[in-house]
Amino acid sequence: MNFEFTEEQLAVQQAARDFAQNVLKPGVIERDTHMTYPKDEVRQMAELGFMGMMVSPQYGGGGMDTISYVLAMEELSKVDNSASVIMSVNNSLVCWGLEAFGTEEQKQKYLTKLATGEYIGSFCLSEPEAGSDATSQSTTAEDMGDYYLLNGTKNWITNGGTSDIHLVIAQTNPELGHRGINVLIVETKWDGVVIGAKEDKLGIRSSDTHTIMYNDVKVPKENRIGDDGFGFKFAMKTLSGGRIGIAAQALGIAGGAYELARNYAGERKAFGKPINQHQAIAFKLADMATQIEAAKMMVYRSAWLKDNNMNYDRASAMAKVFASETAMEVSTEAVQVHGGYGFVKEYHVERLMRDAKITQIYEGTSEVQRIVISRSVIKGEPFENMAPNMVHS
Ligand code: CAA
Repeated sequence: MNFEFTEEQLAVQQAARDFAQNVLKPGVIERDTHMTYPKDEVRQMAELGFMGMMVSPQYGGGGMDTISYVLAMEELSKVDNSASVIMSVNNSLVCWGLEAFGTEEQKQKYLTKLATGEYIGSFCLSEPEAGSDATSQSTTAEDMGDYYLLNGTKNWITNGGTSDIHLVIAQTNPELGHRGINVLIVETKWDGVVIGAKEDKLGIRSSDTHTIMYNDVKVPKENRIGDDGFGFKFAMKTLSGGRIGIAAQALGIAGGAYELARNYAGERKAFGKPINQHQAIAFKLADMATQIEAAKMMVYRSAWLKDNNMNYDRASAMAKVFASETAMEVSTEAVQVHGGYGFVKEYHVERLMRDAKITQIYEGTSEVQRIVISRSVIKGEPFENMAPNMVHS
């Protein structure tokens, strides 16, 4: 086993850490309070290559591995989870799916712009009545010969007010169930694409979350990704990788909250000594650090499996469920360590606690992850890359 990062991975981590501390941190409370989209910050993220990190250089991306992407997500998420979710959706759900399954023409036309951050993308799967039950799509893509006629409503769409491109999952042949679903590339400037109001959210408040309506949108046939009926599998495969990004976000939230709590506990005095010298606080810090360490192993390993072309469906679901629960628990404890100061915005930790909650909800709730994990476990699927005597039966 080799737990070392390469020099390139460490350089990416350092660049992301510097950017988060120097560029994202100064305005993060203000943006969160007023739900201000981090437009300038996203432009700078694009300049640093963060919007298409894993895309091949031939399409304008950084050609980096998933571990580097995870390290960058983690550092940004210690500070600003609105910025990191914008990055995550563009990288994992839009660029990755297009590069893995798109045609050369689709890649030249769209991926080259998404990878450089000239375009921002959205992944449009969730509907008012289809959240966890993603096969029950009521958005329709009627086959009209040389185009699809798209009608329906999608909600909770990240980047919904700012994106140029949507990947829309829609039902074409209801009689075929999930095998009748397609995924279409839709340009937001086309007639019939209507952007609804921005959501006023508990956390990730400066990210741009909207309901989107499609009213008789004509989508050329060449904008379908994959074969007819590939849309649901496209969504599942893409989400498996997306879950690594959100697990990294959760890891960053936990790490950021822990660092704030550890620093505060070294400075704040009570009963004549720093509070980290009281066992009640020292043990909290020990538990937080231990949980984070365990989550790290799972998140990095799922990224490593992906980089080594091994199956990562179960590993990414496990990493996401564990890291998001860690984010919620550690950030709540970090607020507790801060006492009253933890409850005010100035100390940053309450925002991380609010942001933690969404990591248990989006890209599949914790319950969805448990569906994926339990099905795999019950089937008796072996753990990837373990010595035979370590494989669970
Ligand atoms: N890779 C490839 N194919 C897969 C797959 C995977 N990882 N997972 C499932 N499939 C295939 C199955 O093999 C099956 O195909 P066949 O019938 O041809 O064999 C088909 O997909 C249907 O699979 P299931 O029977 O497992 O489907 P299900 O209805 O029982 O539900 C589910 C599965 C896991 C609950 C799924 O619906 C799911 O993941 N739901 C959650 C959706 C989600 O994550 N939404 C997030 C929205 S995006 C977002 O949040 C972005 C953002 O803004 C930040």
